[in-house]
Amino acid sequence: MTSVNRDVVREKLGKIRGAFLIVALFSCVVNILMLTGPMFMLQVYDRILASQSVPTLVALLGLAVGLYLMMGFFDFLRTRTLSRAAHWLENELTPLAFRSWLVRSLSGYRPGYRPLQDLSSIRGFLGSPVSLALFDLPWFPIYLSVVFLLHFQLGLLATAGAAVIVVIALLNELLSARPMREAAGLDQSEGRFAELNQKGADSVLAMGMLAHTQRAWRELRSAAIFNQQRGSERSEFFGALSKSFRLLLQSAILALGAYLAILQEISPGMIVAASIIAGRALAPMDQLVGGWRNIKRTHLAYKRLRDYLSRDAESEPVTVELPDPTGRIAVIDATKFPPGPRNPADTKPILHDINFTLEPGDGLGVIGPSASGKSTLARMLVGLWVPDQGEVRIDGATFEQWDIDKIGRHIGYLPQSVELLAGSIAQNIARFEPDPDQRELVDAAKLAGVHEMILGLPDGYATDVDSAVTPLTGGQKQRIALARAVYRQPRLVVLDEPNSNLDADGDAALASAILALRENGSVVVVMAHRPSAIAAVDKVLMLRDGEQMEFGRKEDVIRKFTKAV
Ligand SMILES: Nc1ncnc2c1ncn2[C@@H]1O[C@H](COP(=O)(O)OP(=O)(O)OP(=O)(O)O)[C@@H](O)[C@H]1O
Ligand SMILES: [Mg+2]
Repeated sequence: MTSVNRDVVREKLGKIRGAFLIVALFSCVVNILMLTGPMFMLQVYDRILASQSVPTLVALLGLAVGLYLMMGFFDFLRTRTLSRAAHWLENELTPLAFRSWLVRSLSGYRPGYRPLQDLSSIRGFLGSPVSLALFDLPWFPIYLSVVFLLHFQLGLLATAGAAVIVVIALLNELLSARPMREAAGLDQSEGRFAELNQKGADSVLAMGMLAHTQRAWRELRSAAIFNQQRGSERSEFFGALSKSFRLLLQSAILALGAYLAILQEISPGMIVAASIIAGRALAPMDQLVGGWRNIKRTHLAYKRLRDYLSRDAESEPVTVELPDPTGRIAVIDATKFPPGPRNPADTKPILHDINFTLEPGDGLGVIGPSASGKSTLARMLVGLWVPDQGEVRIDGATFEQWDIDKIGRHIGYLPQSVELLAGSIAQNIARFEPDPDQRELVDAAKLAGVHEMILGLPDGYATDVDSAVTPLTGGQKQRIALARAVYRQPRLVVLDEPNSNLDADGDAALASAILALRENGSVVVVMAHRPSAIAAVDKVLMLRDGEQMEFGRKEDVIRKFTKAV
């Protein structure tokens, strides 16, 4: 297996490099035209007022209007270019981010991994005035040199002022970053707590746990609030300081200008021009200081996104086109440890040395007490979890060798806790195929014994699974999920406790569905607590504590098992 290593985010950014160049070019034009205001003022004060010529004033005003219009136009163009590029970037990366997010949520909950949010914050940033300020920043020295040209001392004052603003910004960053970071970390555990509580709202309210969870919540929350407050109080102080300093600086430049004018070193027009140009030079700096947190957040989002997306692109194998599987399943010495970091010395595997093979048409019942590893085996069989040692092969190929979407079509999986996806019943059963085969759809529903039930619903197959009017019950959802698992009669069907919510009719439908699938050559694996639940299978695997106790023909295993008890 070869794998590709690609920094996708960078690649896509490279594609919009042209747009950045255009924005930089337009920014040149805008920044030069920005001088229109001060130059106009200079002319009005020093020429027009001296010569008292109205026609010159009108001509100058006309010129200024033209230049302002041009500036507005180019400013609009650069904003538009940037936001279009940002939009394109998000659009291009969204499918990958979505995929990465789904795939990564597999191996357990990952607080803080939100590539889609990261992506939109990058887009938001690129389209914001703060990112434009980055393009204006290189003009800072040029404006400053114009002030120097007006008078050396004015230039010095403006430079010193800019230095003070930078120092204030740095102090702000130094003193408020840590509490803010801590608050962000606490926010995450808080979010997790809230999520679990919301899911368990029924139990919380019914059993009078509200006051207790409220208190636990408050403890978590107040720590976060405290840090947030401390961080923001500090930056409030520095924010006010730098704002009043900027205003002071402008007046100081005006005062120095007036003084120099009194000494007759500069003209009155130059006083105003210097103050305006200095203000203009400081504007992007001001915006960057104000948007600093945003810049940092975006930078972190960018780093995370690059890291994860390129790693996910890297782990995406280049697969060879394989023929459709027939359904020969081999589990060879498979051992699975709990996901996440582990200490090999003291971590017990969830499943240990599992070995068995199944041929097309076989039905396997996996029985064992709670926590014996049945669901883990189910996840391994459908390729969600890769064994840490040993392997699972379908028609001789491991899951890495299959194209994930292609092999998925040949697999039916009914997870232990069923979640239907937002959409209609038909969409759910047909696995969101854009153009499902109506006959296959109805066949799957009939096979799972839900066809009549669905027809009985007000909207039939078009019923929304989240419908507020006729909410589907747990048993109904499970049977619809069963129909989804058997849609197009996949080669391998894995059902994890399929009968946990079923009534007697449902049980019978399940048994006949399993038999029908097997007759058609599919392999069916059923996880169950009780031997009675595996009427329609011919082989049995017994698990206890992650160990394979028995594997063989159903009668043999049951005979041995009942003798032993
Ligand atoms: N995501 C996970 N991270 C860590 N450990 C896990 C994870 N999922 C399952 N386990 C552990 O693996 C063991 C087997 O769990 P599994 O869900 O496979 O059991 P099971 O036989 O399906 O149980 P049940 O009959 O209750 O459904 C348990 O001890 C469980 O704690
Ligand atoms: Mg289970």
